[in-house]
Amino acid sequence: MNILVVGSGGREHALAWKLRQSPHTSQLFIAPGNGGTASLGTNVPIADTDIVGLAHFAQAHDIGLVVVGPEAPLVGGLADALAAKGIPCFGPRAWPAQLEGSKAFAKERMRAAGIPTAAFQVFEDLATARHSLRQAPLPIVLKADGLAAGKGVVVAHSLAEADAALEAMMVAKAFGRAGERVVMEEALEGEEVSLLALCDGERVAVLPSAQDHKRVGDGDTGPNTGGMGAYSPAPILPDDEAQAVAEQVIVPMVRHLSALGHPFVGVLYAGLMMTAHGPMVLEYNVRFGDPETQPLMLRLESDLVELLLACCQGRLDPATVRFSPEPSCCVVLAAAGYPGAYRKGMPITGLDEAAAVPETMVFHAGTAIQDGQLVTSGGRVLGVTARGRDLVEARERAYTAARAISFDGCFFRTDIAAKGIRRTA
Ligand code: AMP
Ligand code: GLY
Repeated sequence: MNILVVGSGGREHALAWKLRQSPHTSQLFIAPGNGGTASLGTNVPIADTDIVGLAHFAQAHDIGLVVVGPEAPLVGGLADALAAKGIPCFGPRAWPAQLEGSKAFAKERMRAAGIPTAAFQVFEDLATARHSLRQAPLPIVLKADGLAAGKGVVVAHSLAEADAALEAMMVAKAFGRAGERVVMEEALEGEEVSLLALCDGERVAVLPSAQDHKRVGDGDTGPNTGGMGAYSPAPILPDDEAQAVAEQVIVPMVRHLSALGHPFVGVLYAGLMMTAHGPMVLEYNVRFGDPETQPLMLRLESDLVELLLACCQGRLDPATVRFSPEPSCCVVLAAAGYPGAYRKGMPITGLDEAAAVPETMVFHAGTAIQDGQLVTSGGRVLGVTARGRDLVEARERAYTAARAISFDGCFFRTDIAAKGIRRTA
């Protein structure tokens, strides 16, 4: 079967790598792909937001499965466009994708489905928002309603900070139309963890937990990024508890959407805070996480094509989802300046040495091939991912491989998985 992967990051390289291993895969296309996916299949120069172009390509190339990495095309209706052509798409249609596309929508669905989440209010005008803010306890969380690339959330510790955030979202329109509505919610405390599940519209197969590292600096300092590393499983949510947590935060949402006539096909990703009162949902994503997917794919033992196709065809059997018990760890190598402005086009060396470290895969994110040379083309450049008998060995291998690689201005966090290791020690 011909397969099309949509996206260009480390997540998509990891998915393409696993899809390539399946005997079901004939031609593999990645749109637009990166320097790593180019060695697994054919990169196609179509933007991941070009829904008409992607649907047209899928039809013209006899694609039997489209696997969508990022959220924007899902929110924009790629799954709907493919369904109209009878092409199986792993990823939800636009309506259920609003779980990620609109924070107000997600909160309202959570309330309706009885899912534990922070108390909230939704505002569409500044005066009402400012008024309610003055009755609310601090700290308070303000979220631009729409997609804001992970930047539309402010945890405000003072009224001045909260007012400034409201102004930025609703008046200065720092996030464009995403800020026309704002969700104000209670601040929660606890450790964050990602729980992802494959869904076929009715059934749910929970994957092992993973933990992302969103801040740019060691010790969770500095600005937020797309994610500087991840590991799986996260000891804060061990395998023998993941199913029970999914019964609280994922299964009721899948049932609720199905009852509304909008079955959810794809990955439902719950961003959780493990609070003193139990797990609470901070947000949903409607796709695989980046970088969580890199350590998850390194542990996955089942045939990914079979699993994703079973989801598209409404016949997912959770018993067929098998993972290696060995933990894995992904360290992101980024370009100096990231998440702010950074340079591109720096030559990358040392990949062969890195790949020689046992049980290690270097997934590409922001890379491209220029005149036969691998160069950087993004802020997050590579996701060096390794497996080991335990988290300590997985982390050691990932850092050994990471240190073998160089490009001008390369940096990485040195404490990926440290929290998990402390918890198991
Ligand atoms: P979100 O995009 O909704 O996941 O928010 C981004 C980040 O903001 C989360 O990863 C948390 O670190 C933080 N955050 C979001 N909601 C809350 C909340 N209710 N309480 C405390 N921190 C939050
Ligand atoms: N790792 C966070 C995300 O994929 O949204």
